[in-house]
Amino acid sequence: MQPVETTDWIERPTLEVTVRADWRTKLRIASKRLEAALRRLFSRAAKPVTPHLYVARPSEGPAAQLIGTWRVLDVLASGTSATVYRVVPAWAPNSTEHFALKLHSDRLASEQDARSRFRREIRILKGFKHRNVVGMIEAGEHQGRLFIVMELVEGRNLRQALERQKPQLTGKLDWSIQITRALSAVHRRGIVHRDLKPENILTTRVGVIKLADFGLAVQDKLQQVTRTGLLVGTPAYMAPETLLGGEPDKRSDLYSLGVLLHEIFTGRMPFEASTVSQFIDAHLFARPISPQRVCPGMPKGLSDVILKLLEKSPEDRYQTADEVREALEPVLAAVVGVPDPRGHRTGIVA
Ligand SMILES: Nc1ncnc2c1ncn2[C@@H]1O[C@H](COP(=O)(O)OP(=O)(O)O)[C@@H](O)[C@H]1O
Ligand SMILES: [Mg+2]
Repeated sequence: MQPVETTDWIERPTLEVTVRADWRTKLRIASKRLEAALRRLFSRAAKPVTPHLYVARPSEGPAAQLIGTWRVLDVLASGTSATVYRVVPAWAPNSTEHFALKLHSDRLASEQDARSRFRREIRILKGFKHRNVVGMIEAGEHQGRLFIVMELVEGRNLRQALERQKPQLTGKLDWSIQITRALSAVHRRGIVHRDLKPENILTTRVGVIKLADFGLAVQDKLQQVTRTGLLVGTPAYMAPETLLGGEPDKRSDLYSLGVLLHEIFTGRMPFEASTVSQFIDAHLFARPISPQRVCPGMPKGLSDVILKLLEKSPEDRYQTADEVREALEPVLAAVVGVPDPRGHRTGIVA
């Protein structure tokens, strides 16, 4: 992809002075370093995890099926940092109430940074009660590996739900509004999630959204554990200021929300990119593809919300998740043809 010819946004005072002084060189270096770091990260992530080690093996007896005081029933998923199991309490093996147990990957268990991040995930989830955020039951350590026991979301992550359920516009709007509620609660606690993407958002069978995976999240009060110079996140969803090494804030999450909503509503990413460096280039310089151009039937109001979230400069985006929700609610009201929350009567939008 050709970078668009613009220096307009980069000259804004919101960017670090050092970046403005010599941004072309710095971007080139940053992009190379990030590419190398992400390659390392992805090659590690690509190595197969070994969930079978923790599932019952008859020769090893019942203890092999236990993680802490939890009995493993099944493997639910393998993510980038952990394996997630369906479990029951060992003291109630016939219980029909099941839970999800996220066990830190053994490749990462001995890495200090990864361990600290997992601990931070535990501290962030502890005591966090919100309908749209996955609830933690307890945390512990098993053979040197940390684990979190959570409410089990009997449903799908958004990636799977998008592929298999093919939701309608109203369903997608409802999801989006619930995601803004989750983000609003998270941001109110001074937490930045930093890894919003379809795999980290779960839906229950009745369509309740649960924001999950706080493995990269940072909280004001908690010490930063990411080594300086190492960028973390998923490049396809990362905000320009994060790619430039700036401090992520809630507006960086809102940019990722823009990428996510673009994908949810159009089925396409906002940029034509496939490699890490193409994504970096696109987030920094390219104009996003207008959602309404991809899907001409989409309400213009919705397309505008997505484009505003994808503004390069954080100042030009919505400033809070509540503002995004307030912009989406009238769109939903118009689509279903009910009075919108502000009291205006709205008609059905084609
Ligand atoms: N509480 C849960 N209930 C059901 N499935 C879950 C739960 N938490 C995670 N998962 C599944 O496990 C996958 C990986 O979990 P995640 O927390 O994102 O781990 P990672 O940090 O390895 O990416 C998710 O995409 C989802 O499919
Ligand atoms: Mg994840």
